Amino acid sequence: MDHDHRIQQEFARQAERFGAAPAVVDPAQTQPIVDAVGRAAAARVLDLACGPGIVSAALAPQVGALVAFDLTAEMLDAARRRCAAAGLANVSFERGSATALPFVDAAFDVVVTRLAIHHFERPARVLAEAARVLKPGGRLVVADVVAADDPAKAALQNAIERLRDPSHVRMLPAVDLSRLIADAGFAIDAETTWDKPRELEEWFGIVDDPARVAPLRVLVRALAERGEDAGMGLEPVNATVAFFHRWRLIVARKPAA
Ligand SMILES: C[S@@+](CC[C@H](N)C(=O)[O-])C[C@H]1O[C@@H](n2cnc3c(N)ncnc32)[C@H](O)[C@@H]1O
Repeated sequence: MDHDHRIQQEFARQAERFGAAPAVVDPAQTQPIVDAVGRAAAARVLDLACGPGIVSAALAPQVGALVAFDLTAEMLDAARRRCAAAGLANVSFERGSATALPFVDAAFDVVVTRLAIHHFERPARVLAEAARVLKPGGRLVVADVVAADDPAKAALQNAIERLRDPSHVRMLPAVDLSRLIADAGFAIDAETTWDKPRELEEWFGIVDDPARVAPLRVLVRALAERGEDAGMGLEPVNATVAFFHRWRLIVARKPAA
């Protein structure tokens, strides 16, 4: 199965649960992006890999026009419903791959992408596309989960993530994510990191696949009980396991021509 097919299969499955998950819709995970974009009544904004439109719906009231873009039809349907329910009239929806954006050069003032880079097989290619469709001087806002700096812990965490969701490719350590963005030609203006507390069963519930998560539950619990935090703060708490996702927000700029 090629990766694009795997993405669509997985996110068709996840669309409803992901879009309703408290940890995902938590405004604290969206507000830093809203603040980074700011009030921009004339701006044309691209929400790249928009999923169920959580970021799109949060941003649309403060920008001129927003394109919500994703590969997975079920996610775009969920985004359409969310924006319609919010009465947003300045959002349009387009389906396609982030590796070949169907937009002309310099079409946008702002590109945002949340929780998506770790699902891309060719993140450098996607960032090159983001640079192409941004106007000179335009802003890129990336929010993604990052791995531990320690390679062994990062490898363990990425393995757990991949077993839970086969469309997961690789969470980068924070410095590598910043380097990827700088290497795509962006100037980085600001970077912030924070830890979002999670709970295992809530996280497992999003993928809605008991056969997949049953062995993983045993594995993660055993790691936590042996004191292995896997770079994600694994900690046994009563019948479950607590952990965190480390988020990184990077605000960058395409240099003016
Ligand atoms: C974890 S969800 C994040 C959704 C949304 N950005 C959010 O933060 O709520 C990842 C999304 O990336 C999309 N995606 C993954 N690879 C893609 C690609 N190559 N092109 C476009 N969308 C992609 C998936 O379909 C999915 O909706």
